[in-house]
Amino acid sequence: MGTSQYEGQVILPRNHSYGIIQAESHLETINMGEIDLNRTKFLLQTSAIFAVIGTIMGSHMAGAGSMALRPIHAHILVVGWLSLFAFAAYYRMFPVPKSSKLATVHVWTAFFGSIGLSGGMWAYYFIPGSMVTLMAFIIGGTILAVSFILFAVMTFVHGKYITDAQ
Ligand code: HEM
Ligand code: HEM
Repeated sequence: MGTSQYEGQVILPRNHSYGIIQAESHLETINMGEIDLNRTKFLLQTSAIFAVIGTIMGSHMAGAGSMALRPIHAHILVVGWLSLFAFAAYYRMFPVPKSSKLATVHVWTAFFGSIGLSGGMWAYYFIPGSMVTLMAFIIGGTILAVSFILFAVMTFVHGKYITDAQ
């Protein structure tokens, strides 16, 4: 089964006990001794943290009556909260092999790109004229753009099994 999505992985059934270790999830996948990246959970929890930061920032803007943070607030929420949440939902809803390197790179570029773009934008807007903050902004934005491109590629590469509900 050279193309199996579980190739090279050991699948532990629910409640299977290995000594004192109890597998708690329905299917705990162990990849050659390493715990796999739980893409849905990782992206969902990251998006929730972005949502908290973004809404606190929005409340501060409303309270202070200053719109200086508006684009940073907007990216933290629209990229960090909404886009990462959408990616989390994608990995939950559609079949993407656990072994997909494309997916792994997509998840990490989405994570570092969201932080890099919003952090870099924040730094650049508040310390303008600095080469360091400009580079942080550009690198963060580029990583994020790469992530979105990988996502688009992935919808085609792993698009074979995506179907309508009926
Ligand atoms: C506690 C909740 C929130 C507060 C108090 C808040 C507050 C604000 C304020 C004061 C502005 C500036 C408006 C202006 O320029 O006149 C703004 C802009 C914006 N907010 Fe929020 N916000 C909140 C939640 C959200 C959420 C949940 C999202 C997205 C999911 C969001 C997305 C945006 C966007 C995209 C802009 C820029 C809009 C534009 O370009 O005109 N905000 N927000
Ligand atoms: C790829 C990296 C990206 C870069 C470098 C970038 C950069 C920018 C810049 C420079 C602005 C103008 C901000 C200003 O008015 O001062 C802007 C606005 C905006 N961008 Fe992005 N962006 C990126 C990705 C995204 C993505 C992926 C989304 C949505 C998912 C997004 C949503 C928005 C929104 C809603 C605004 C309007 C915000 C406002 O009016 O304050 N951006 N972006």
